Amino acid sequence: MPALLAAAWALLSAAFLALLLLHRAQARRPGVRTDVASAFFQDLIRYGKTKRGGGQQASWLRRLQVPKRWFTHFYVVSILWNGFLLLRLFQAEFLGASLPPWVQIFHGAFSTDLQKENTADSERFSALLVLLLLWLHSFQRLAECLYTSVFSNGVIHIVQYCFGIGYYIAVGSTVLCQVPTNVRNGEELSVQILWYHIVGIVMYIWASLHQHRCLVILANLRKSKSGKVLSLNHSIPFGDWFERVSCPHYFAELLIYISMAITFGFHNVTWWFVVMYVFFNQALAAVLCHEFYQEKFTSYPKHRKAFVPFIF
Ligand SMILES: NC(=O)c1ccc[n+]([C@@H]2O[C@H](COP(=O)([O-])OP(=O)(O)OC[C@H]3O[C@@H](n4cnc5c(N)ncnc54)[C@H](OP(=O)(O)O)[C@@H]3O)[C@@H](O)[C@H]2O)c1
Repeated sequence: MPALLAAAWALLSAAFLALLLLHRAQARRPGVRTDVASAFFQDLIRYGKTKRGGGQQASWLRRLQVPKRWFTHFYVVSILWNGFLLLRLFQAEFLGASLPPWVQIFHGAFSTDLQKENTADSERFSALLVLLLLWLHSFQRLAECLYTSVFSNGVIHIVQYCFGIGYYIAVGSTVLCQVPTNVRNGEELSVQILWYHIVGIVMYIWASLHQHRCLVILANLRKSKSGKVLSLNHSIPFGDWFERVSCPHYFAELLIYISMAITFGFHNVTWWFVVMYVFFNQALAAVLCHEFYQEKFTSYPKHRKAFVPFIF
């Protein structure tokens, strides 16, 4: 059933594309935003600074919100779950251990079948590398949530919160399922470092550095030179990739997932659907953020795009 996994990610990408198109359609007809369904829709797609209403929001909607700083929980779950998968996969590939039976059942159901003998080892190694990159990314994000970012009292919808937790479990499990099921009769994995592993890792490091720099720029908007938090307001960020787009940290996130597709050797269709999901998910968030800046600041730089430099 490997095609089912790819189809699930494709469906999720399509859902976020539909949300983006629906939002654009609503934005062109502002009058329709006042009904309950539209208010609920906007409440569901927005979070943090782009969430509207504040005190005027219906109390039943307010009851469905949790603090945005709980983003931290996503990365704790990801470090634990994906760390567990990484450890067990490493033990299976290099120490001859077997995966836990319940992981084997899941893996058997969703992973690809026998690969050509000569490519199976490189595919196994690619999957191990991508799982490591995903784990490191979660680790970086957790550290940023705890030590870099300055959160305000922004909120996220409980549905977004549960979705975020489920996402990090699903994404690591998807990487695991890219390990071919063929048995090597207990033989150790022969490590083959290929050119696309190097390109993928270099791109991952480059994108992660920029993502971190952009998050530092956002945090510094709220701090004095000595590092003291002065305000929790939202202001216009400048510097690094902010000169080109409103949400360079979302663009960097997309590049990080593309770097993983490269590490897989470009041909992993399931992972390209994951990339597509990240594209539409982050595009929606970036468009809302861009609109927020344009509405709030009359002096907002006109040349800045929302998400992808020079494009949109
Ligand atoms: N892979 C995925 O599916 C996925 C999904 C979501 C996010 N992410 C990643 O997670 C990272 C964080 O995302 P996010 O949506 O939380 O980013 P964000 O809304 O820009 O917030 C990042 C931090 O900067 C603060 N901030 C934002 N704009 C500011 C401004 N104009 N002035 C001062 N402070 C500001 C926020 O405070 P507040 O508390 O006020 O918001 C928060 O502490 C991103 O790199 C994103 O790519 C990934």
